[in-house]
Amino acid sequence: MTDRILYFRQPSFVTYGFGTANLAGEEARNLEMTRVLLVTDEGVQGAGLVDGVLESLQDVGIAVEVYNQIGSNPETTMIEAALTRLQEVPANGVVAVGGGSPMDAAKGIAFLATNGGRLQDYIGQTIPKAPLPSICIPTTAGTSSEVTNNIVFTDSESRYKFGLSSPNCAATRALVDPEMTMTLPASLTAATGLDALTHAIESVTSQGAYDLTQAMALDAIRLIGQWLPVAVEQGDSREARERMMMACLEAGIAFNQSRLTIVHAMSHPVSGWCGTPHGVANAVLLPYIMAFNVPYAEKEFGEIARALGVDTSGMLPLQAAESAVGRVRELNDEMGIPEGLAECGVTEDVIESMTEDAMKSGNVRINPRPVTREDIVALYREAM
Ligand SMILES: [Fe+2]
Repeated sequence: MTDRILYFRQPSFVTYGFGTANLAGEEARNLEMTRVLLVTDEGVQGAGLVDGVLESLQDVGIAVEVYNQIGSNPETTMIEAALTRLQEVPANGVVAVGGGSPMDAAKGIAFLATNGGRLQDYIGQTIPKAPLPSICIPTTAGTSSEVTNNIVFTDSESRYKFGLSSPNCAATRALVDPEMTMTLPASLTAATGLDALTHAIESVTSQGAYDLTQAMALDAIRLIGQWLPVAVEQGDSREARERMMMACLEAGIAFNQSRLTIVHAMSHPVSGWCGTPHGVANAVLLPYIMAFNVPYAEKEFGEIARALGVDTSGMLPLQAAESAVGRVRELNDEMGIPEGLAECGVTEDVIESMTEDAMKSGNVRINPRPVTREDIVALYREAM
């Protein structure tokens, strides 16, 4: 039983299925957009994933300005430049096509356009006004930015990678179309899929979790354990791509309610200081932090092990929980993820700075195990 008061709020309206990206025009018209800033990156545009969306928008008479200058781990200056472009057009709606970076950028632009100021002004503050309408169309099954209230940026000057969380940072519509992931290269499929696995595992074990969120997150773990290796090896498998997209959706909606633990608190500084791709930083840290948390969430980690396909019958609860860590290590290995941060270019001299940033995360307080500054330093050292 629970004696807590529970909330479930999901601001983004989701449309799911093959071909739904082509509904962009119709949805934009429903949202009364007439001039749109379409935010993407050069890789996504080069892969031809913007074309259908562009056509769908133009078919209903919407003028579109394509902005493709969003890099991975987007920096505050990139968002400022994109916002200037939006104001020059001037656009009254934002559409994102891409992974977490273009989607976070679009959501950041949409709320800054109505609230004013800089992204950094909103750290730890509320975002009072509703954003411009936005549509997010993911091209990876990983980040879940299309259904979360969160956006993450790196301060171009201080390298601090910070997050903002508000219903006013959510997309108005999410068009979740597995077709958009069919040509994603194997290495990106692996890294983004492991980001989704990290969301799901953190969601199950967060102190913010409850039955409803755990049910979704555990199902996401089950799907990822079964289908991520297939999606990586057989990228043209429609079934694997669809199952991974569903897993990503479940994990995203779950963690949007429950929030996360210290894997993301510690991975954001790794990306901020060292430029490591988000999914890779999470995947490397995940088993070390799971092992740290096991004694404080034995039952949950046992359930995670079973969701990952481990036969825990005959195991003591602690052994079952520990087997989840072992299975994640194996999965990382199968996906070609480095065993330590040093292989990702992280050096000992940034551990202090990364620790300082990690401790600022709100997720530290809801980690299943109490966490001190010394614990974070020790975990970074261990994960080197
Ligand atoms: Fe993530």
